[in-house]
Amino acid sequence: MGACSIPVRALVCSSLVLFAAACSGADSRSTAAFTADGQVIAMGGGEGGPSNACFSCHGLDGLGDGVSVPRLAGLDAGYLQKQLEDYADRLRDDATMYEAARWLDDDDRRAVAAWYAALPALSATSAATVQLSVPAIAAIGGAMLLAEPITPRLLLASAAILGGIALTIRKKG
Ligand code: HEC
Repeated sequence: MGACSIPVRALVCSSLVLFAAACSGADSRSTAAFTADGQVIAMGGGEGGPSNACFSCHGLDGLGDGVSVPRLAGLDAGYLQKQLEDYADRLRDDATMYEAARWLDDDDRRAVAAWYAALPALSATSAATVQLSVPAIAAIGGAMLLAEPITPRLLLASAAILGGIALTIRKKG
């Protein structure tokens, strides 16, 4: 029994890991069309060169810095594109964004806007944090599906893991 319960447990664990990975990648806006071009501009700045690479200010996850650089991830593509046009035309006046936007043509703006619109609204930190719950879920699954004993130690460990996750997510928003 002891020998055969290990593969079952491993199976339960791996399916939970895959499930959690699938969940953290899920995003309601991911149906928006985006091309690799948008990502290239976001990471490389397009014609404007690396000093205008969007990620260098707006962050790899497009969440901005929460102070002076706004979040782009998950915003409406049409809105983002319009802002880029307005910066480039100086209708929206900002020296930094004028410099970043003026190098982009219509296709570039559409592509980079679609990229940020499609970037998961869930931050990388939240996604990573949620995945930390897997051991606790797997242990609870083991107790429920395989009748493994629920020890005070397991309860304490699970409570600590889940509590830590709750704190992180509440802080990050
Ligand atoms: C040097 C830093 C920097 C770079 C590089 C940069 N941005 Fe920005 N971005 C800013 C700042 C600061 C603002 C806020 C400006 C304002 O108050 O209007 C902003 C605002 C924006 C906005 C308006 C958001 C809103 O909610 O209205 C968009 C869209 C945007 N940036 C897209 C981009 C794109 C796309 C790129 C890359 C091509 C880029 N940014 C590169 C700093 C930067």
